[in-house]
Amino acid sequence: MKILSVTSEIFPLIKTGGLADVTGSLPKFLKACGVHTKTLVPGYPTVLRKLKAMEPLVVFDEVFGEPATLMQGRHGDLDLLVLHAPGLYDRPGGPYVDDGGNDHEDNWRRFAALSVVAAEIAGGLLPHWQPDVVHTHDWQSALTSVYMRYGKGRDIPCVLTVHNLAFQGQFHAGILEHLGLPFDAMNINCLEYHGDVSFLKGGLQTANLITTVSPTYAREILTPEFGMGMQGVLNERRPDLIGIVNGIDPDMWNPATDPALLANYDYLGLRSRRINRRRVEEEFGLHHDDSLLFAVVSRLTWQKGLDMLAEVADDLVANGGKLIVFGKGDRYIEDMLAGAAARHPGRIAVRIGYDEPTAHLIHGGVDSIVQPSRFEPCGLTQLYALRYGSVPVVSRTGGLAETIIDANDAAVSARVATGFQFHPVDTEGLRLALHRAFAAYRDPRRWARLQHQGMKAHFSWDRSAQQYASLYGSLIARRSPTLD
Ligand code: ADP
Ligand code: GLC
Repeated sequence: MKILSVTSEIFPLIKTGGLADVTGSLPKFLKACGVHTKTLVPGYPTVLRKLKAMEPLVVFDEVFGEPATLMQGRHGDLDLLVLHAPGLYDRPGGPYVDDGGNDHEDNWRRFAALSVVAAEIAGGLLPHWQPDVVHTHDWQSALTSVYMRYGKGRDIPCVLTVHNLAFQGQFHAGILEHLGLPFDAMNINCLEYHGDVSFLKGGLQTANLITTVSPTYAREILTPEFGMGMQGVLNERRPDLIGIVNGIDPDMWNPATDPALLANYDYLGLRSRRINRRRVEEEFGLHHDDSLLFAVVSRLTWQKGLDMLAEVADDLVANGGKLIVFGKGDRYIEDMLAGAAARHPGRIAVRIGYDEPTAHLIHGGVDSIVQPSRFEPCGLTQLYALRYGSVPVVSRTGGLAETIIDANDAAVSARVATGFQFHPVDTEGLRLALHRAFAAYRDPRRWARLQHQGMKAHFSWDRSAQQYASLYGSLIARRSPTLD
């Protein structure tokens, strides 16, 4: 089976969050299921820098008014198609925002370009390769199936994976005339969303199947509380909506071999974690002692509930705990957390930044990772925490609800508990969950058991990749004429 995956991020070339981890690791595991993936990505400067040998495949006169070339290249296991269009992608800032943190004003054009080229590939642009299925991810590539519906590639099936319904690619209706789609596409059953154009809605309406990244989130998004305005559309498409939980790449995230750790270890050698812990404490300017060390490695946004953590920070310190926060995001949350750090020097440290090795080192050194998300489609941080023996404290929502087993009495005696969950998702719930973590930490054998159970939990991609492969297969079978 041949799959064209279309994405705005892919690890290790360009990453702002878990989407990149997923699109960067899934192809490797699909390969074991007989699925070959080519991934189409924008030619951001960092992508072009990291790909050494690239060949031009197709030269376009223009794509959205800009000269563009479709290139091919490889990076490790990844087989890539890169849309090289400097007018669209070569600029300062990140993939979505400029250096000042504001959205690039022509994001609609940048990601419509990616989608229109994906649809062309589905429609036979490349002489020697045509996908059996197209797989799009989030709003940035969701327009692909709209272009396919109204143009070439109409008969190729498309799967859209929603990684986060909060980001929808909603733009003023005035862009419609520039999208190269018929005006007919601007209707309530396609792009139209409260008078605007919604890329995500277009994708939700035209993809053959919709997946999201955990079965719990797949149920949650049918409700007004989590549906972000799309619950109506999603309910209509309910028979075609499936939750498949994300996996992790156990080679990339392996405490026994991770080069970012000072000391490598497995579940039998947890004492070595102390060496990493010491390094983390030094790096973040925290006192050295044996008190419970919590950490956050995350986007610092409302979704992630980190304003609630700032509210309980004094209590955490009063209970003898310490806290590291590493990430970046919304200014008001960064400020709240920085305020807590200023009140508790040596016990709370906040660093605004994004850096892969530091993220790994934190997982390998701290006692507990806190993830109090208000909603969480899947969440990967808690899975990395499990694998590294840092016990997760999480809200009971989305993927967090189904990947962490709460240390209640029954789960503790059955020796299956892996962390602490709280619900309702509010400051008081979080405070109580932290108290439960403190109580468990006071009993070293109990804590070590939680660590062991977490490290033995299996969240590799194998099973989920198999589920994607079956979905692709079912779509191809649906499309093939039955043989008499
Ligand atoms: P989301 O995609 O919503 O941000 P996930 O938990 O799915 O949440 O994925 C977050 C990814 O981003 C993980 O790979 C995590 O390690 C990474 N990450 C978050 N913050 C940082 C940071 N400050 N530095 C490096 N990596 C980070
Ligand atoms: C999104 C979600 C996160 C998920 C990731 C990868 O960014 O917020 O929960 O793990 O995508 O699917």
